[in-house]
Parts: sequence; C-alpha cells; structure tokens
Amino acid sequence: MTLVRFLRADGTLDKEVEAAPGQRLLDVAWAAREPLEGACEGVMACSTCHVIVDAGDFGKLPPASEEEDDLLDLAPHAARTSRLACQIMLTADMESLTVRIPPSVTNWMGRYFPGGSGMA
Ligand code: FES
Repeated sequence: MTLVRFLRADGTLDKEVEAAPGQRLLDVAWAAREPLEGACEGVMACSTCHVIVDAGDFGKLPPASEEEDDLLDLAPHAARTSRLACQIMLTADMESLTVRIPPSVTNWMGRYFPGGSGMA
C-alpha cells in the first residue's frame, strides 16, 4: 500500500489514505471524498482534477504528456508542480505522495473554497 496525503488549499492536512499501487490518484481522491471534480473522468477533456504535487514528491512521477501539459495551461491556480490526478497511477515508489487541492469554485460535493473565484 502507498500512503497518499491530501492537503487543503491552505496547505493544512485534510486526509491521509492508504492506496494500492496501480490505482489512479483521481479514484483515490474520490474514494476519500476529496473535492476533486474530474468532470471528464480521465479522458483529458477538462482540468478539474488538477492537483499541486509537493515539490519533494514531484520527481517521483513520470513526466506529464504534452496533452496533460496543454490542459494544465487551462487550470486555475496552476503551479510549477501541477498535475492532473486522472493521469497519475500510483506506484510503490510514490510512498507518502503529498498533493494539495488548489482553490476552486464550488465542487461536485457543493463545498466552497475561500480563495476561489467567489462563486458559491
Ligand atoms: S478528469 Fe478531466 S482531465 Fe482529469
């Protein structure tokens, strides 16, 4: 099992969850009820699964594809270590992977993040 840490937009710890290698990070986030929308469910037609990977963990991930990089250009609050959770398959090398959920507008669970666009 691999430990995954989800941080809130302000950088505080929200949840630590165990996940099996081979699982997609987006699916782990959904199972943990993290506020990642993932509107296209991984067919690379949105950027609503955007996460910001901890700088110390970023090198554990394989490089993003050109298509993923293009979508990240559209993601609000994108950072140097941004990735799409639907494109990250967990491996044993990713132990303690830490990702931050960026500020957003209302998500699929209806939660609202201060610092988003202000739409509730
Ligand atoms: S869920 Fe749409 S790009 Fe990841």
